[in-house]
Amino acid sequence: MTIGFIGLGNMAKAMIGGILQKGLMGPNEIIGTARTEETCRKAADKFGIQTRSSNEAVAKEADIIVLAVKPQFLKVVIADIMDCVDDSKLVVSIAAGKTISWIANEFEKPVKLIRVMPNTPALVGEGCSAVCRNDLVSDDDFHFVIELLESFGKAYTVPESLMDVVVGVSGSSPAYVFLFIEAMADAAVAGGMPRKQAYEFAAQSVLGAAKMVLETGKHPGELKDMVCSPAGTTIEAVKVLEEKGFRAAVMDAVTACIDKSRSL
Ligand SMILES: NC(=O)c1ccc[n+]([C@@H]2O[C@H](COP(=O)([O-])OP(=O)(O)OC[C@H]3O[C@@H](n4cnc5c(N)ncnc54)[C@H](OP(=O)(O)O)[C@@H]3O)[C@@H](O)[C@H]2O)c1
Repeated sequence: MTIGFIGLGNMAKAMIGGILQKGLMGPNEIIGTARTEETCRKAADKFGIQTRSSNEAVAKEADIIVLAVKPQFLKVVIADIMDCVDDSKLVVSIAAGKTISWIANEFEKPVKLIRVMPNTPALVGEGCSAVCRNDLVSDDDFHFVIELLESFGKAYTVPESLMDVVVGVSGSSPAYVFLFIEAMADAAVAGGMPRKQAYEFAAQSVLGAAKMVLETGKHPGELKDMVCSPAGTTIEAVKVLEEKGFRAAVMDAVTACIDKSRSL
């Protein structure tokens, strides 16, 4: 079994790193290509994988072809490889906004297609990927791809109609959380804490709070109540956040992101 990456950027590297680290496939089973030789050389040096000088060469050799280029380059990449893709191959696209029917249309023939929306925490093994497939993909193939995705985080099956919502709540959401961490750290700096330490406190608190939601299964409101002692410090902060419309602002932001994704 050979998996071939077309595009060796951030997301492809996160995927290759996870697959190798979990031992799901060996470096001799992974090939890749990119726009420039330099990117190919760096990926070969880093992961010990083989690279090829064209998209066609990767598509010919690979059983699973991962389309890991920016969405605007997908059309030209599919044109490069369409003659090498037959019903023995499985195509996995991670391009944001490109639907299964759009991709199938570009191939101009029935193709086994899986669509994935990952996010950047995949780079540290904590990604959150949404995945869906067309009718031609077998259960075995689908489960194998999910196993690959789980090598760098969590993977959840969703109907394709929810992919734009996924963009709002996980594809783009690391950016909102970075803003939140930065703002908390800025306030800590204003309170006298050195900046590096402020980022560590803010980020570790976000990590710990997220783990509490996932591991206790408790409602986030209940976990919030556990921190808010009567007449304490936390409830004062919560009151300010409510006065400033924190939750409504977050909901509006996520909704704007979903709307934008739907309009693309
Ligand atoms: N980053 C995110 O947060 C995120 C989240 C969800 C989904 N995605 C999706 O993941 C995909 C990849 O994103 P990324 O962040 O990994 O992008 P990236 O870091 O910019 O990497 C893109 C790669 O594509 C290669 N490439 C460009 N044109 C090509 C062509 N014609 N043939 C072959 N390779 C080509 C580039 O080669 P060179 O390096 O040689 O230029 C580069 O290695 C995108 O479709 C994006 O929508 C990204």
